[in-house]
Amino acid sequence: MTIAVLGGAGYIGSHTVKYLRAAGIPLAVYDNFSTGFRESLPDSPELPVVSGDIGDAERLAHFLRQHQITAVLHLAALSVVAESFDNPRRYYHNNFVATQTLLDTLLTCDIRQLVFSSTCAIYGKPRQLPLTEEHPCQPDSPYGCSKLAVEHLLADYARAYGLRYVSLRYFNASGADPDGELGERHQPETHLIPLLLERVRQQQNGLNPPPFTIFGDDYPTPDGTCIRDYVHVWDLAQAHQLALDYVHAGGASNIFNLGQGQGYSVREVIQMAEAVTGEPIPVAIAPRRSGDTPVLYGSGAKAAELLGWRPAYTDLHSILTSAWRWHRQ
Ligand SMILES: NC(=O)c1ccc[n+]([C@@H]2O[C@H](COP(=O)([O-])OP(=O)(O)OC[C@H]3O[C@@H](n4cnc5c(N)ncnc54)[C@H](O)[C@@H]3O)[C@@H](O)[C@H]2O)c1
Repeated sequence: MTIAVLGGAGYIGSHTVKYLRAAGIPLAVYDNFSTGFRESLPDSPELPVVSGDIGDAERLAHFLRQHQITAVLHLAALSVVAESFDNPRRYYHNNFVATQTLLDTLLTCDIRQLVFSSTCAIYGKPRQLPLTEEHPCQPDSPYGCSKLAVEHLLADYARAYGLRYVSLRYFNASGADPDGELGERHQPETHLIPLLLERVRQQQNGLNPPPFTIFGDDYPTPDGTCIRDYVHVWDLAQAHQLALDYVHAGGASNIFNLGQGQGYSVREVIQMAEAVTGEPIPVAIAPRRSGDTPVLYGSGAKAAELLGWRPAYTDLHSILTSAWRWHRQ
């Protein structure tokens, strides 16, 4: 019983690999290294790491058969929202078209268990908060649309071909592994916490980085800046193990939010970064970015009830402390 981790060299994938290996689950990683890093994975004879694209049916089928894969975690995707507006073709192709090839290849190899990395970006503008799984999905970016399209694909393949899946709609993944060995690393980096900590690091190294840009401080929120729901990457990893258990146990295909049910504003995150690093972070206010929703947070109640998900990092301080431990190194 070996589990394939597609996109296992990425930020969430590499943490999930570490978490599941610690739980004794046999894994094999498949990644095209377009945004992931080989060095985020251990060099171990017990962890096969294969370079390949999920859209390459022949190579993928060979990988799945060679390693006798019984279930798949599918994290492989491009996920920079702004880039998806500039290059929707690339996003639909990589996230949707290649996923259809992946699903067809799974069926060919008689694999019918899958956990998919979905996103809160599929909801669009919230009509009520916290967002629950029943909230209508009207994504406002090609990235979000490509992920929603995959959810439709999964539902139809489940009905017609007996695929069983769990779709995990992550809110903002954040933090770093408790040992400080792995952390958040995207190229280019677009996420608030690593951008802030990188700025602090530059400052501490005697560089003189420009003030940190806040896009909009006139939103209808208590301090005027956008509010997001930060979920620790180790808690996301925990959810993957629970989702695998659920699918193995014969659970019906299902969708779960992975959110904390509360959010923090950009200013609150900056203040916590100052507290954790001991460095002041000068800011500059820029106009709002188009498409930014003022407030976004989601309920993880369904995941708690049906999967038994219990996030361990429920406050911003512990998230930033773990992230800073890795960044400092
Ligand atoms: N980071 C977040 O806050 C967040 C939030 C919601 C959803 N997600 C989703 O979670 C997943 C992982 O996100 P991440 O932040 O770790 O991103 P990441 O870019 O660090 O990881 C993605 C990994 O997938 C690989 N990959 C991409 N396309 C591939 C393909 N066609 N074939 C094989 N490998 C491919 C990349 O090389 C990389 O290793 C993505 O599906 C993303 O959409 C992330």
